[in-house]
This record gives sequence, structure tokens and C-alpha cells, in this order.
Amino acid sequence: MRYLFLTAVLLLGQIVTALSPAEWRPQSIYFLLTDRFGRSDNSTSAGCDVGERIYCGGTWRGIINHLDYIQGMGFTAIWITPVTKQLSQNTGVGEAFHGYWQQDIYNVDPHLGTSDDLKALSAALHARGMYLMVDVVANHMGYAGAGSSVDYSVFSPFNSSSYFHSYCSISDYNDQSNVENCWLGDNTVSLPDLDTYRTDVKDLWNNWVSELVSKYSIDGLRIDTVKHVQKSFWPDFNAAAGVYSVGEVFDGNPSYTCDYQNYMDGVLNYPIYYPLLNAFQSSSGSISNLYNMINTVKSGCKDSTLLGNFIENHDNARFPSYTGDYSQAKNVISFLFLSDGIPIVYAGQEQHYSGGNDPYNREAVWLSEYSTTAELYKHIATTNKIRKLAVSADSSYITYKNVPFYQDNHTLAMKKGSNSPVITVLSNAGSSGSSYTLSLGGSGYSSGAKLTELYTCTSITVDSNGNIAVPMASGQPRVLVLTSTVGNSGLCG
Ligand code: NOJ
Repeated sequence: MRYLFLTAVLLLGQIVTALSPAEWRPQSIYFLLTDRFGRSDNSTSAGCDVGERIYCGGTWRGIINHLDYIQGMGFTAIWITPVTKQLSQNTGVGEAFHGYWQQDIYNVDPHLGTSDDLKALSAALHARGMYLMVDVVANHMGYAGAGSSVDYSVFSPFNSSSYFHSYCSISDYNDQSNVENCWLGDNTVSLPDLDTYRTDVKDLWNNWVSELVSKYSIDGLRIDTVKHVQKSFWPDFNAAAGVYSVGEVFDGNPSYTCDYQNYMDGVLNYPIYYPLLNAFQSSSGSISNLYNMINTVKSGCKDSTLLGNFIENHDNARFPSYTGDYSQAKNVISFLFLSDGIPIVYAGQEQHYSGGNDPYNREAVWLSEYSTTAELYKHIATTNKIRKLAVSADSSYITYKNVPFYQDNHTLAMKKGSNSPVITVLSNAGSSGSSYTLSLGGSGYSSGAKLTELYTCTSITVDSNGNIAVPMASGQPRVLVLTSTVGNSGLCG
């Protein structure tokens, strides 16, 4: 229904590019912290001491300056951190460079640019056929001080204590009402928790998000701290936004997290994140736990193809902080793109940045000089091409639910697509893994079918027993498709 409304607005001649959930499925997302990605002055040497947790100078103009770099990897969308005006102090835990400590929701954070700069970013993306996803926070505001001492007059519009739950610090994550009604933060920076049951608070948020989306021609939302607000708040908020919304439910339990997909379009795929990390961070990681979780999420979430897949973000240690092995890093990336869901790569992942937990995982991307020859930059570019090929070769690919069909201690094989499934073979053996031929049955392809392995451009004919002889080497991922579909995908000549 809401999309019908937007279509009507479009027909009336206004610029609306809002994307529905179905239109987001084939996209691939590059997630960046605006303060840490690109600077207006194009410097690639400006210092950024992550330990200080202060603004480093990234801006929306800086993003515009480096859209070629993002698009060069094949991404079709960016997700940027919150745009609202933040608390201005340098607190005992740093400044609000990340955007999660808002005080004024009607103005943008001047550190990141002006309202016109943000519009220019949106326009620059759209001119390239790319899309803008913006992070929004409805759970809380931010205050430089203890929860018991908040001066509510600093907030716009929520300038009185009556808009908020009375102060209590979250003390029990097993008690959902405690998680929803008490406050995040600490005595240095408290996160005053809005009373989202109040009709005026709900109306303010719904009007705000609808205006934000239309003012900046936003195509999708990432919603912060979803589990800290009652579920019944979200359907109206998502509908008011009128665009695909993916929520952050920071919990790996599939039954807990999947339920939120009954209240908004998608959630970040935390249920897969943990077994994915475990499976590929070492050659002794559990492949079977990942294999099982693929099936659990597929049956337990309302629609696994609308989840947001990631292995790194600004809240979790980067993958290379667990293993420096490039093959293992490539395998997790291939998984993000070729399983169910929308792939999300966190800026710096393509440079194999290795920062640990927050704040060390928030490195400035400009210090890499935006190298386009970095090994993972190239791997991501190839993998984006593979996914695009899969989407264009088979109209059912993007909604077809991925099927894991082979596992051993180091290997996982999955197939996705109904007509000519894409076969992905992943390994956690690492760069020192041996070369061998995996005889892979159960792919669904019959004897004589001609396949191409897309990372090595090897031709393989399915043997008389219906097995595929997959050439494994150095723990590298493998992806096989019907040779006749490769065409002019830009892959394999
Ligand atoms: C989740 C965000 O990703 C994180 O960075 C932030 O600190 C908290 N929510 C609170 O907004």
C-alpha cells in the first residue's frame, strides 16, 4: 500500500526514488561511518587516532568524492551512519562522530556537512543509479552526563522529561521490558530512552521519518537499537518511512531476532553472523553449525532473502582481528554475497583492516589511499559481478532459498536458484590449504552439464555419476554456474 502512495507521488512529478523491499533484494550495500570514510579536502593522510574517539573529518562531500571507489567494487547502495545533530561535547568517552548520540532530530550534524551536502550526496548516488540507506535512531537521544541529571531542554523536539521513560539503567537482558523501558549508556553518556508508547512520541517519529525520507530522497533505512523499543512501534514507523527498512536486533538467537521481521521488512543477520565467524576464523571452525543455522534462519525468519548479511561492522571486531588469512576472509565475503539476504560490506573490509572491538574497528578509510588493487577490493568486485550474473540469469535466484547440500570438516557447499542453480563451495582451510579435487555430488546438475568456476575460469563437465570435480586450492572459495549463462558478465573473458 505504502508503495502505491509513493508511486502516486512519483507520477505527480516529484523526485522519489524510494525502494521497496523487493527492489532492495538484488542490491549490495557498502556501509560506512561518514566521519571515517572520506574528507571534503580529499586528504589521504589526515590523522585519525581511533583510540581518541573524536571526529576525524569525514563528510558527505567526502563520500561524493569517492563514489567511484565504492561503485568500482560493484556496490549499488551505501548505508551511512545517522545524520541528525549530535551532542557537541568531548565526553569522557569521546565525541559523537558515529552519530548515535542525537540531540536535535530536525537538523543535520554540522561536522558531516550541510543539509544541501546531504541532498547532493543523495543526488550524486542517484545519478549513478545507486541508492542511499540512512541509519535512524528512534529509541533514544544522547546526553553528556548521567541519566539522573539530564537537562531535557537540550533536546529538539523532546524537550521535557515527560517524553521519556523514567531513568533506570538496563540491568537484565533476559527481561524484555527492562531492555525496552530502561536506558542504554552510562554515567558519562546516557541515552535517554523515549517513551515510545506515547501517542505524541509515535506521531513525532512517524512524521519525522516520512519527512526525512522525502527531503533527502532516501531509498532505505537501517534502524538502530530495534530490540530496545516495543515491537508494536515498528510497523507504523516502517510504513511511514515507505522504504525498505532493516533493523538492528543485536542478538544471535534466531528465534529472538527473526520474530522482529514480523514487524519490519528485514533485520541484520546476527543469527548467521556468529556461526559464520566461527566457521571461517580458523581451519577448525564448525562448518556444521553454520550449515544448520542456514536452515534454521530459512525456516525461522519470515523471509531470509530480506535479511542484511555482514561479517564486520562498527560494533564488532573486524574479521582479520581473528585471522589474518586472506583465503578465510575471501570465503566469508563470498558467503555474504551468495547466500540468502542482501550483502553488506563494512568500509575498510576491502582493505583487510584488522581493528578489534569499538573503537579500534572504526579506522579511517582514507588512510588506505583508496587502493583499488587491494586483494579483497578485487575479490569483492568479482563477487559482486557473480551475484549480478546470478540475478540476471535466473529470475528466481534472488527469492530462491539457499540450500546447503554438502559439508565436511572444512568445506560447505550450497546451491541457490531454481533453473540453473549457482553452486558455492567454501573452505576454511586457509591459504596453506592443500590442492585437491572435491568430488561433489547432489548439485542438481546432471551428467554432461557444462559448468564454469568463476574465480578461476575453469571449465568443468559434470561426470557420468553426476559429480562435479571441483578444483580446490589454497582454501579459496569456488563458485560454479552453467557456462552458457556467463555471456558478457565481465567474468571469464
Ligand atoms: C547500535 C549501533 O550500531 C551502535 O554503534 C550504537 O552505539 C548503539 N546502537 C546505540 O545507538
